[in-house]
Amino acid sequence: MRPEVIIIAAMTADRLIGSGDKLPWHYVDDFKFFKEQTEGHAIVFGRRTYMGLPKRPLPKRLNIVLSPEPIYEPEVIVCKDWNEVLQLSFSDLMFKTPDIPTSSCCAKCMPAEGRPKLFIGGGAMVYKTALDAGIVDTMLLTEIKHKHEGDIYFPEFDPNDWEAPEILGETEDCIFRKYRRKK
Ligand SMILES: NC(=O)c1ccc[n+]([C@@H]2O[C@H](COP(=O)([O-])OP(=O)(O)OC[C@H]3O[C@@H](n4cnc5c(N)ncnc54)[C@H](OP(=O)(O)O)[C@@H]3O)[C@@H](O)[C@H]2O)c1
Repeated sequence: MRPEVIIIAAMTADRLIGSGDKLPWHYVDDFKFFKEQTEGHAIVFGRRTYMGLPKRPLPKRLNIVLSPEPIYEPEVIVCKDWNEVLQLSFSDLMFKTPDIPTSSCCAKCMPAEGRPKLFIGGGAMVYKTALDAGIVDTMLLTEIKHKHEGDIYFPEFDPNDWEAPEILGETEDCIFRKYRRKK
């Protein structure tokens, strides 16, 4: 079954997402949101973002890395392109991921509608190639309310392709929005 494909990203108002290999900020509220949304599901990263993660693999998630090159990392699935990612059998793989308890997998990864979730965790190249390929159903975009320095940006997207965003929450530092692709 094709998963629901969900971009998850945090950016400033001018779409800044990164500085070199790192995030330009650390906002606890956004980390909490990221954890709540993604735990118990599959998540795909570009090689550069994955290698820059402070803890690899991310616990309680099925970690997938996109790269045309072989990567030898424990407990990670490496895919050479989006076709290979989308051909994975997510429900089977989630059951085999050791630190995802079967009960939480049943409850979260196979919700009522029975469709697994595949999160896209960045970086810029991965977001852009997914949007260009037209495979993204949903975007969870956190707006960071403050200015930051950096050099990596979220790709421009056509707002006409998306329903008006739903605001999921707001804190002192962040606004959490959900976009659904128009049918
Ligand atoms: N603010 C946020 O929410 C957020 C989230 C994630 C990352 N970031 C930031 O984003 C920056 C990294 O972004 P980036 O664009 O430089 O790197 P990236 O997208 O993380 O990784 C790029 C690499 O991934 C592989 N790749 C990407 N798309 C591919 C595709 N469609 N098919 C096959 N391989 C693919 C290639 O690997 P090879 O090089 O092996 O060919 C490519 O060089 C960092 O600053 C990071 O902190 C921000």
